[in-house]
Amino acid sequence: MAEVRIRNTDERISGEEQVKAFLESQEVLYEHWDMNKLPERLREKFVLTDEEKAEILSTFDPEIRDLAARRGYQIWDIITLSESTPNLEELLKKFEAVHTHTEDEIRAITAGRGIFIIKGQDDVGYFDVELTAGDVISVPENKPHFFTLMDNRQIVAVRLFIEKDGWIATPYDDPSFVKA
Ligand SMILES: [Fe+2]
Repeated sequence: MAEVRIRNTDERISGEEQVKAFLESQEVLYEHWDMNKLPERLREKFVLTDEEKAEILSTFDPEIRDLAARRGYQIWDIITLSESTPNLEELLKKFEAVHTHTEDEIRAITAGRGIFIIKGQDDVGYFDVELTAGDVISVPENKPHFFTLMDNRQIVAVRLFIEKDGWIATPYDDPSFVKA
């Protein structure tokens, strides 16, 4: 279940309702999928064959189609990151810079963990959203953020897009950004 940490105050928010309410106040969508639907062998597997990726997508097809119908997504895929990913260090370095997109960035975590760092409204400043399997998050369009892995450095996530080009990152140079 997701947990929030506000960087300026080190305040932590946990519990589904509290996290959802805080994220809603920051215009960040938060939902949850039932990971019990996923066969156990896919819950801790971070190098996936095409067949296994297709199996994850078909397991959550109703949830994906529901999101697509509500929010206009046209295409979706699966991304995996782990120590076996070639150039993981380089990729993470590229990820770990504050940026924006013209489309929202939606991720449904199906295994592992990840963290979004998001610029909050007004005096909230930057906050971290730590995600585990089942968490679904959408960072709104034009909201400064970045994504990275947590200590275990393993994740599988479903990504949804309105159109592929909408997700091109625009760097966001922010002197107020507070590192960890
Ligand atoms: Fe992004």
